[in-house]
Amino acid sequence: MAEFNLTDEEYLALDDAEFRARFRERIHHTLEIQIYAAAYRNKTLSPNQADTCKRLSKLWRHRGLPTDAHDYVLGQQISAWADALSRGEKIDLSPYAPKKVSPEEEESFFRIIHERRSVREFTSQRVSDELIDKILDSGNWAAHSCNLQSIRYLVIREETSPGLFLGSDIPGGPVHLVILQDTRVYKANPFNPVRNRLLDAGAAAQNIALAVHAAGLEGVWLTFNDKIVERLRTRFNLPEYVTPVTYVDVGYGDQTPYPVLRPKVAEVVLGRG
Ligand SMILES: Cc1cc2nc3c(=O)[nH]c(=O)nc-3n(C[C@H](O)[C@H](O)[C@H](O)COP(=O)(O)O)c2cc1C
Repeated sequence: MAEFNLTDEEYLALDDAEFRARFRERIHHTLEIQIYAAAYRNKTLSPNQADTCKRLSKLWRHRGLPTDAHDYVLGQQISAWADALSRGEKIDLSPYAPKKVSPEEEESFFRIIHERRSVREFTSQRVSDELIDKILDSGNWAAHSCNLQSIRYLVIREETSPGLFLGSDIPGGPVHLVILQDTRVYKANPFNPVRNRLLDAGAAAQNIALAVHAAGLEGVWLTFNDKIVERLRTRFNLPEYVTPVTYVDVGYGDQTPYPVLRPKVAEVVLGRG
């Protein structure tokens, strides 16, 4: 398809963000899905299956991008497996099998979901940078449409940058985790529905909201107004292609809200086929 068939010159003229997004998208759609179908369902792979990945990997190196980057490493692994499968060899994915979830872990997981609350009062205890990074990493591990990886963050401590969130329900933080998107990545697949962009940010935010509670902190997912967005753009000199989408305030909780009760599943399932 023309949208995906760029010449080498066109690939080299792209900015790094779009080139890397195209690299991830092409691997996702030309290799990743196919190799699992070949490994587990005996689907035949073409001997040229990894050609796009190899061509883009060559362009990656030509651009001088880091060869230890997560997307490049994934591409090399998947392309090696595609070559093995197209030679008729078996590949061993068993080292990557997730550890079986124990009954206790399962219980904890669902308890964290049920006991997460929006907490809007916080103590003065400082949240460490390490804990913040651990929480943001959970956001990175959310599902993302076409593996485009649009999510970016701002970490704002109210004590360091006071007043940016004036006008929000909880202006005082203490730590504001802002979820941004680098919208350049979406040029890599014009067929990706626009609604996926918001869903990508929502998936990251939900992982973050849960990770906050699992990490012993509390937080609340909050709403921007345009003035806050403008203040963030100015304070952090955000380019126009970076969009602030949503944010979660985080700290050590200082209140116990009554659970906002939820409807029963039977009340919300509109049909079962
Ligand atoms: C997209 C989104 C925006 C929200 N905005 C606000 C907000 O501006 N102010 C606020 O106090 N809570 C906000 N919340 C939190 C909701 O009010 C809260 O999640 C809901 O009442 C359910 O309560 P719970 O989170 O304790 O289960 C928001 C939540 C979401 C998902």
